[in-house]
Amino acid sequence: MAGTPNPLGSPLPLAAAPMAGGPTTVRLAAAVSEAGAFAFLAGGYQSADALAADIAELRRSTEAFGVNLFAPNVARISEADYRRYAEELRADAERYGLDLSQAPLVQDEDRWQDKLDLLVADPVPVVSLTFGLARPAEISALRLAGSRVLITVTTVDEARAAAAGGADALFAQGSDAGGHNGTHDPLRQITPTRTDDLTRALIAATGLPVVAAGGVDGPETVAALLDAGAGAVAVGTLLLRTDESGASRTYQDALADPAFTETVLTRAFTGRYARALRNRFVDEHDAAAPTGYPAVHYLTRGLRRAAAAAGDPHRVHLWAGTGYRNAATGPARAVVDRLAGGL
Ligand SMILES: Cc1cc2nc3c(=O)[nH]c(=O)nc-3n(C[C@H](O)[C@H](O)[C@H](O)COP(=O)(O)O)c2cc1C
Repeated sequence: MAGTPNPLGSPLPLAAAPMAGGPTTVRLAAAVSEAGAFAFLAGGYQSADALAADIAELRRSTEAFGVNLFAPNVARISEADYRRYAEELRADAERYGLDLSQAPLVQDEDRWQDKLDLLVADPVPVVSLTFGLARPAEISALRLAGSRVLITVTTVDEARAAAAGGADALFAQGSDAGGHNGTHDPLRQITPTRTDDLTRALIAATGLPVVAAGGVDGPETVAALLDAGAGAVAVGTLLLRTDESGASRTYQDALADPAFTETVLTRAFTGRYARALRNRFVDEHDAAAPTGYPAVHYLTRGLRRAAAAAGDPHRVHLWAGTGYRNAATGPARAVVDRLAGGL
């Protein structure tokens, strides 16, 4: 299949996928960028001020990078379902001295407007959005400011909506990807979707350039995704154990621990499907977990942080794509070099 152009404009058709919550650091972004790949900063969970500081710092190394934001897409949860899940987690929380019975139900938009305003006032070359579409006027504002806008999509229907909504390119996320599935419909059951098949289908349906991500475990998979027509390939999980990664020690060690033998899609940690190493928290709570992002994310956050600090991998969201066994230690540059070796 004829490839789509690299919408990121990087020397190599490779990118560091955005990973919010700690793993993406300015150091990691600078390192992959210096190695010839495209870097995304992860604006999710951050305040606009913190994001602005990261942008300023990364600009000391490169001007060519992207910023990823969570598009507003609140999956409402009832007070009763929320309280039921808080009760389900009581014993885990108590282990860390936490009482979830009074935890407020928070259904916010991750400070979307502040971060949008920041990026319109002080644009970066690429803005990518996950979890949904922004309003057409918001996408236009980003484009008028000079940014190329990428939308994460997980199905052909989402890609058509992104194209109609003004996206310049698509971030195709197969279901093997680590972390949250970016589906625009948080109520949807995620069906297994290979990234190469998704890439071909999206190009056929929209003709838009595609950055393909999900399940990349080495240079052969990169080559296969470029063969499928992707203009660039993004990796997340393979960077998690690098020197520049901000992932916690507990998380990094779990990725290499033979006791963890598979990844699963679960809503147990945040109320939105995400691929994670299967640990005890998943085994015990997945069946009871409701849909309700970001409320469930906030409900479990303190517990997850305390567990990570205590070295307890069984109560941490160990986001991982199916290629996690090939996540190596060492400099991020070595990961980029290895992936580029097959090109
Ligand atoms: C720890 C972690 C955090 C992530 N955070 C984000 C995020 O903030 N925004 C986003 O669009 N995708 C996020 N993702 C998904 C990645 O951008 C990407 O789609 C995925 O890592 C690709 O699959 P792979 O992990 O198999 O390489 C995250 C993934 C991981 C592993």
